[in-house]
Amino acid sequence: CGIVGYVGHRDAYPIIIKGLRRLEYRGYDSAGVALLDKNLKVYKKTGKVSDLEDFVKGLPMTGTIGMGHTRWATHGAPSDRNSHPHSSGDRKLTIIHNGIIENYGIIKETLLAKGHVFKSDTDTEVLIHLVEDILNETGVDLKEAVRIALNRVIGAYAIVIMSAEEPDLLIAARKGSPMVIGVGKGEYFVASDATPIVEYTKNVIYLNDNEIAYIQRNDLLIKNIDNTVQTPYIQELDLKLEMLEKGGYDHFMLKEIYEQSRSIRDCLRGRIYPEKGKVQLGGIKEYADKLKNVDRIIIVACGTSWHAGLVGEYLIEEYARVSVEVEYASEFRYRNPIISERDIVIAISQSGETADTMAALELAKEKGATIFGICNVVGASIPRITHAGVYTHAGPEIGVASTKAFTAQVTVLTLIGFYIAQLRGTLTKSKLIAYLTELDQIPELVEQTLKCNEEVKKIAAAFKDASNCLFLGRGSSFPVALEGALKLKEISYIHAEGYPAAEMKHGPIALIDAELPVVFIATKNSSYEKVISNIQEVKARGGRVLAIVTEGDTEVRNMADYSIEIPATDDAFVPLLATIPLQLLSYHIAVMRNCNVDQPRNLAKSVTVE
Ligand code: G6P
Repeated sequence: CGIVGYVGHRDAYPIIIKGLRRLEYRGYDSAGVALLDKNLKVYKKTGKVSDLEDFVKGLPMTGTIGMGHTRWATHGAPSDRNSHPHSSGDRKLTIIHNGIIENYGIIKETLLAKGHVFKSDTDTEVLIHLVEDILNETGVDLKEAVRIALNRVIGAYAIVIMSAEEPDLLIAARKGSPMVIGVGKGEYFVASDATPIVEYTKNVIYLNDNEIAYIQRNDLLIKNIDNTVQTPYIQELDLKLEMLEKGGYDHFMLKEIYEQSRSIRDCLRGRIYPEKGKVQLGGIKEYADKLKNVDRIIIVACGTSWHAGLVGEYLIEEYARVSVEVEYASEFRYRNPIISERDIVIAISQSGETADTMAALELAKEKGATIFGICNVVGASIPRITHAGVYTHAGPEIGVASTKAFTAQVTVLTLIGFYIAQLRGTLTKSKLIAYLTELDQIPELVEQTLKCNEEVKKIAAAFKDASNCLFLGRGSSFPVALEGALKLKEISYIHAEGYPAAEMKHGPIALIDAELPVVFIATKNSSYEKVISNIQEVKARGGRVLAIVTEGDTEVRNMADYSIEIPATDDAFVPLLATIPLQLLSYHIAVMRNCNVDQPRNLAKSVTVE
């Protein structure tokens, strides 16, 4: 979900609505806004931010204090009544909230018994009623009532609260869900990430867990939930406005696919010295000894980041000869995993906020493991709890379906693989020189790969009406197949499965007919001959094959119905190139099917609930 708030001297509504549009990628089941001048006004609507804008057209949207929310439903189906803000009875309090209040059921029972009446099914409404209840019963002021309420709830939250009785006060608090405060002159902004703030100020404060900010036009006070005053740390944002615009592309996703040459280059910058055969990773160098002697690395992640982890497993095992396990964070955290101080646990997360990944990491930390993060958003929650880490530096990713963040994650894992190889001496100097020289060329090869776009578009037209699709690959191209299938599912709603090519005969082969597109990653690398046999198995059953092949290939080309060439490269780097035509394929299919590419239904970019 996305949160934005403002208190200052300008009209709040335009700032809030623009902020909500920037945050819409975080969730978009419904949107709402609250404004305060003489009266408190709350408007909310299911659907997109644009639906909310239509809904309030012609209404007086005045007020220099206000807040807005875009929702990704957890408790309660998407509906007008379940949308935020939620308000509480007589005291004219209103709240927006990201996260989950786990003990809301029991609090609600107590409040119901006291006569509170609820208008929605949400945990959020329970929280604001709890604040009201404390106000009524104890006579403390609103600031203190919120603090007391937060001490009583269990769960994760980022909240903003306003009251008609306090027209110069926004109260923001966080625990496990991000919150940024923008510091202006006589004005403050709050938001769940910096994107709505950057055009007004570069000075921001990231709230820490268990902190409450009392924000007034000319004053900011931050306290811990236990009532100790905190000294705010103001940081300068390293974010440019143009990074948040489409820059001439039809969709953010396409823009981000095309940015990959640059984003991989940014990710490599200052980290590889090919002529010396040297990798330098400043973020984890203090742990060089630990990495040198480590027996096992566990990678935890969700979604696309989990796929990057699987590619990492191949790379780290192959080049550094360290055993790697890759786990879904959500499974790992709940199955009493075996972890010790000897392990290194690496979390991969674009947003750095995914609740399951955070929790898995906290568990590993508790059990004494050394924890690293591979994140894209600087200053997010995961990088703040890890011992060390490597940023991907892909720049803001707005399209909900991850593209450039994935290739940047794979790039970082490649670097980590070579870094450990260098520490452990599992690769000779001359081999490292050769690999790093090739890696240095990858941004250029990505650029060349992108030239397949028109070809991919034609193939997309042939596949767009499929109802199922199979993606197959071997070795490190298997996770690429998984990622290709996920992209297609996410944005075009075509059911797709990724499989190791050789496993096909143990199940998915039953699906093959003239209708089913089968996408093979069949580049010229160590498993080339094996993949050819798998393609033949599909062709023998009348399947339609699209093959991603190495430039100049004729053998697979002659066999497949369609093929897309990518430049030749070492096995180690095939995932970085082979992913690109698959991203473009799902992009064009989704556009042809009139799907909302940047904001596919039901998904959210940043999942801060478990
Ligand atoms: C959501 C997004 C996916 C993403 C996953 C993990 O489901 O829609 O694109 O891969 O979360 O997110 P993270 O920020 O942890 O990489």
